[in-house]
Amino acid sequence: LRGDQVIVVSNREPYIHDRTADGIAVKRPASGLVTAVEPVMRACSGTWIAHGSGSADRDVVDAHDRVGLPPGHEEYALRRVWLTTEEEQGYYYGFANEGMWPLCHVAHVRPVFRESDWQHYRAVNQRFADAVVAEARSEDPIVLVQDYHFALLPAMVRAKLPRATILTFWHIPWPNPESFGICPWRREILEGMLGSTILGFHTRFHCKNFIETVDRFLEARIEHEHSVIAAGGEETLIESYPISIEWPQESERSGWKPVEACRRAVFARLGLARDSYLAVGVDRFDYTKGILERFHAVERLLEKRPEWVGRFSLVQVAAPTRSALEEYHSFQERIQRVTQRINARFGRPGYQPIHLLATHHDHDAVNELFRAADACLVTSLHDGMNLVCKEFVAARDDERGVLILSRFAGAAREMREALVVNPYHVEETADALHRALTMPGSEQRERMASLRMTVQEFNVYRWAGRMLADAGRLRLRERIQAR
Ligand code: G6P
Repeated sequence: LRGDQVIVVSNREPYIHDRTADGIAVKRPASGLVTAVEPVMRACSGTWIAHGSGSADRDVVDAHDRVGLPPGHEEYALRRVWLTTEEEQGYYYGFANEGMWPLCHVAHVRPVFRESDWQHYRAVNQRFADAVVAEARSEDPIVLVQDYHFALLPAMVRAKLPRATILTFWHIPWPNPESFGICPWRREILEGMLGSTILGFHTRFHCKNFIETVDRFLEARIEHEHSVIAAGGEETLIESYPISIEWPQESERSGWKPVEACRRAVFARLGLARDSYLAVGVDRFDYTKGILERFHAVERLLEKRPEWVGRFSLVQVAAPTRSALEEYHSFQERIQRVTQRINARFGRPGYQPIHLLATHHDHDAVNELFRAADACLVTSLHDGMNLVCKEFVAARDDERGVLILSRFAGAAREMREALVVNPYHVEETADALHRALTMPGSEQRERMASLRMTVQEFNVYRWAGRMLADAGRLRLRERIQAR
């Protein structure tokens, strides 16, 4: 693939420039997708096309709406696409986040399908497809399409650049045909996605669901043996590529504060007694993440085992997200109320069981929390992969700390040495928490060492590398067959 141009398309941009009182501030959004794709982009210095969403985004781009990134040491180009308020409302908040997101995640939130949102979704997909064509320097670039915001884009790019290699990666789960079948535009969505050369999901299970969905709703030839779907003359390989993180390099690790120092700093900040125990949760403030169930498990632990009252706290970072949507807004308020109730029930002067920090925390702040904690709770009700659990493990070079992980996160398939729980089962999660807090150091070390080996080996470069290797193989085959 050397010499080939790589173009990434995603809704969320890797850096957001915002106007502040003292000029322009740049921040990295809370997004598993951005966490995973950015290191790959730095390594292959391509072009990233994304929605320019910051208040100062227009102030830093050149005449072609491009800006070099990361700020200060430019390794790739970001091309920003501007959306009107109506477009953002219909395409992003509406169809993507009120339609597709609850359609694909089993969290018992009903999807909302509005005709006008769908029209915007289609129009914005076309705008991004046009941007891909405009950025292409040859007739066969490699286009990496990211996520549920762009289900229609692969076929739109294919129509203009028939020889492009289009790799689409779906960062969220794919549901079964019954669930997906309620979408009024199911056929268009499937046909749009099948414009891809390769369609990737996190797990085999999601691939299987997708193939069954196509089988149910389209007339397509399905080669189960090779996991290939042929619809309208084009073939699409359906493959699983479990996403991951960039394993921290020595140069980064050498800048980390020792675990003891992290613990002292965090305990002092939260006002925790020195001999108490701390669990950490870090999520976007989203109803799929099981934050409510997690808090109920904490409550149950304190109820069932009063010896932990006064000695155990959970610190929950919840980065506000999509708050303009009623579903998110009311969820966030509900969590605030539950936090107050539990804290009123079990708290006392100098002790609070739940510390809810409902603000965005940067990587260093999160890393410090991970290193300070005795356990990390990932209790998603449904999650494509979940990278928080991988980041926790990467942060623990002392091989201590226990991971409690939802069986409904894709990561549970790889991270077998975690304490795997059903987050809907409050009792089970409460018991896992007790087990984590009382786990002997030797067992913590064994489990953590094994988890660390897995994440280090199956890192994000392997995710991207496997996808690009498959693309290279298909490109070569095509070239040979064209002779
Ligand atoms: C999930 C999605 C990403 C999205 C991220 C943050 O990880 O798969 O596509 O970027 O959430 O959500 P937001 O709506 O802020 O982009």
